[in-house]
Amino acid sequence: MKRTHNCGQLRSLDISKKVILCGWVHTRRDHGGIIFIDLRDRYGITQVVFGSGDILEKAKTLKPEYVVSIEGTVSKRPEGTINKSLPTGEIEISAEKFEILNTSKTPPFEIDSANIPSEDVRLKYRYIDLRRQEMKRNILLRHNIIFAVRNFLSKNDFVDVETPQLTKSTPEGARDFLVPSRYEPGKFFALPQSPQLFKQLLMVSGFDRYFQIAKCFRDEDLRSDRQPEFTQIDMEMSFIDEDDIISVTEKLIYEIFRVAGVEIKIPFERITYDTAVLKYGSDHPDARFAVEISDLTETLKNTGFKVFAEAIKNGGVIRGICVPCGEKFSRQQIDNLTEFVKKFGARGLAWMKMTEKGFESNIVKFFSTSELQNIRTCFDAKPGDIVFFAADKEKAACDVLGALRVHLAELLGIIPKDGFNFLWVVDFPLFAYNSEEKKWDAVHHPFTAPKEDISNLSIFQSFNLSNLKSRAYDIVLNGVELGGGSIRIHKKDMQGKIFDILSITKEDAEKKFGFLLSALEHGAPPHGGIALGLDRILAMLTKSESIRDVIAFPKTQSGSCLLTNAPSAVSERQLKELRIKIDRTKK
Ligand code: AMO
Ligand code: AMP
Repeated sequence: MKRTHNCGQLRSLDISKKVILCGWVHTRRDHGGIIFIDLRDRYGITQVVFGSGDILEKAKTLKPEYVVSIEGTVSKRPEGTINKSLPTGEIEISAEKFEILNTSKTPPFEIDSANIPSEDVRLKYRYIDLRRQEMKRNILLRHNIIFAVRNFLSKNDFVDVETPQLTKSTPEGARDFLVPSRYEPGKFFALPQSPQLFKQLLMVSGFDRYFQIAKCFRDEDLRSDRQPEFTQIDMEMSFIDEDDIISVTEKLIYEIFRVAGVEIKIPFERITYDTAVLKYGSDHPDARFAVEISDLTETLKNTGFKVFAEAIKNGGVIRGICVPCGEKFSRQQIDNLTEFVKKFGARGLAWMKMTEKGFESNIVKFFSTSELQNIRTCFDAKPGDIVFFAADKEKAACDVLGALRVHLAELLGIIPKDGFNFLWVVDFPLFAYNSEEKKWDAVHHPFTAPKEDISNLSIFQSFNLSNLKSRAYDIVLNGVELGGGSIRIHKKDMQGKIFDILSITKEDAEKKFGFLLSALEHGAPPHGGIALGLDRILAMLTKSESIRDVIAFPKTQSGSCLLTNAPSAVSERQLKELRIKIDRTKK
């Protein structure tokens, strides 16, 4: 009983054909003298009718998720029973014979019922969860997009090259997953955080244009858009500049969205890192709504309001946002916002509400008329608007107002639900000071080329370092970082200089990246690239809350697999072979 058609295929034109369908019993409806089942497979659902006689009796044994093969004739559905919401809704199969290929236990949840079970249950029975229409759609879209990406990049001369999974630590800044070596006890491979160094080596080899749908592994704190194991669309090109990479990436993203049925506009707007942080308080800004941060430090430099005056005196800034709250927020709700911003490091949240009579709040009395007028003009504040202030060190003020503007926009429902707002963020700083470790860190990774010529820069000029810009760029969609990349350093001297600034000793550089440094001495062309987070793109396209919904077998928020129970203990023998001893004393 091999199938002649699939469950999404048959139409009115097929009426009277003898067919065999195979699939799962989606639902069974028993109307006494007649039984209907909806038979489901990957392609769709077809209604099957068991009319009378032996077959009707036998059909009574069918239960949800049984796997069956059914032979019958395609019939027109009687008037009034046509189901317009099903592509096969004009026909049904009058069953003549069927075979149960396998039975099924009662599934832990109903497929496609409105009650979606908890995510833990879905992950434990992922093979059943993947039968749901929504999950099937996500996984099929993933396939279609990967196919389109391969096609597009191949056509544009990119070569798909696999790079090792058992390798050496790569420099993306997260913790590594380690794999012990049996041949060399005490030594470890690291799973790659990205193919970064290998793709650079491929440019040195002359491959000119590389891509890979690459698995990356990062042992970091997980969130809804972070998995320990995720997929990048990874690219690298030679003899190019930023514009070439940006342009090919825009065309690729256009193609990805086209395949998903969404027409987007390219090119995307570009904003500098400094503007992003100033206006939106974030290097991955959500610019779908108009609330922007303004700087009031100059306006309020002589203010009598102590909290602000102190902040300015300590080298801080006064920044604010003006939000059209209308009469929506009670005093209590405004106070609750103080609790919200404290999570982002705020020491308090000053605010003023604009009314027909001017600003009102507990702090208005501390400001002069002209200060209040200037604040009003700065935001063009209208009655009903509330201005919120952060007085702090610049970074802290940005973090607080960046988070607050998004939080308020969500509360007020002013973020457009549809639509895709793409942005390039460019001119990132090259270095950021790590005050805990008292050293400079690379903002992107240590192979990113500086924007200015720094060959004559002395390391002692480190006070200048925070002003240096890099040739890195990030692509942001609706406030989510989709991808990032840079033009790389392709000369050994420059790479050495950067390592110096990052306090990576020559010895350490040689040990960790010696192979790259050596390659840079053997004819490395100018090159650069980018990596896009495939899971994040898919989550955006499917409007999924978490990237877990677009990954067939994801890990939980705490990094485990509920389906296989990985990670799990291993046998003493395995540990012995690897010469590993576990410290079982409690922490
Ligand atoms: P980066 O570290 O910015 O760059 O990563 C690129 C993109 O990968 C996605 N991403 C993740 N997705 C899911 N879970 C994670 N844990 C996770 N971490 C990152 C994001 C991110 O924008 N080698 C460089 C690229 C380059 O310079 O060419 C790199 O990996 O969408
Ligand atoms: P206080 O004088 O501490 O009662 O603060 C007066 C108002 O200023 C309160 O509404 C505080 O929430 C607010 N506030 C305190 N510190 C800050 C700050 N660093 N930035 C913005 N507002 C603040």
